[in-house]
Amino acid sequence: MSSSSQGADGLFISFEGIDGAGKSSHVQTLAQAFRAQGWAVTVTREPGGTPLAEKLRTLALGEPMDPLTEALLMFAARRDHLVRVIEPALARGEAVLCDRFTDATFAYQGSGRGFDLQVLAQLEAWVQRTPAGDLREPHLTLLFEIDPSIAAARLAGARVPDKFESQPVDFFSRVATGYALRVRQNPSRFARVDADQPREAVWTDVLAALRSRGWLT
Ligand code: TYD
Repeated sequence: MSSSSQGADGLFISFEGIDGAGKSSHVQTLAQAFRAQGWAVTVTREPGGTPLAEKLRTLALGEPMDPLTEALLMFAARRDHLVRVIEPALARGEAVLCDRFTDATFAYQGSGRGFDLQVLAQLEAWVQRTPAGDLREPHLTLLFEIDPSIAAARLAGARVPDKFESQPVDFFSRVATGYALRVRQNPSRFARVDADQPREAVWTDVLAALRSRGWLT
């Protein structure tokens, strides 16, 4: 593969959406579909995916902090994750399925918290630089879209909310706007999935996005 966003022969897919969109269950199902077609698969998540990044996740999701500190922790976790897990797996030719990646930082810390998008873009360029000097980005980002008030109703009572899940609906409306901005900046990287459907219908759309790109049959 030769495009600047692509590594050896691996495939990097991220899953995004506001809390309550229901993306996470599709990560596992898609991993099974890839394995059934002979791929080695790494399933991982952000913030997290390494022992250090999981510690940073606990801090970032549990402690109050200013938006710059929050953004720096997200990118510190991402750097460790890229170096230790994502780049090696892509170099081995694996499919890497990542529950959230940098679009979440732009959507949550940027549009949600109101932190400077230019600074985030600088951190992105710095943290996601590959050894070859390219910008590491997912080859495909599945964006699970749902009305923020429906997502909030889904989350209500489901579990003890973390720092982000306990934000008001307004916050998630801004996060959704942040995701839409990322789509406008790089439409070909995204597949938008209507998450306000029965689970089976959502899965059918996920599969269609992969098949239309020739990555699953
Ligand atoms: P999430 O991925 O929804 O995991 P779970 O299903 O276990 O709740 O939770 C991660 C939270 O972290 C989510 O609210 C979004 C937030 N987040 C950011 O604010 N910035 C980021 O860069 C990332 C990766 C996540």
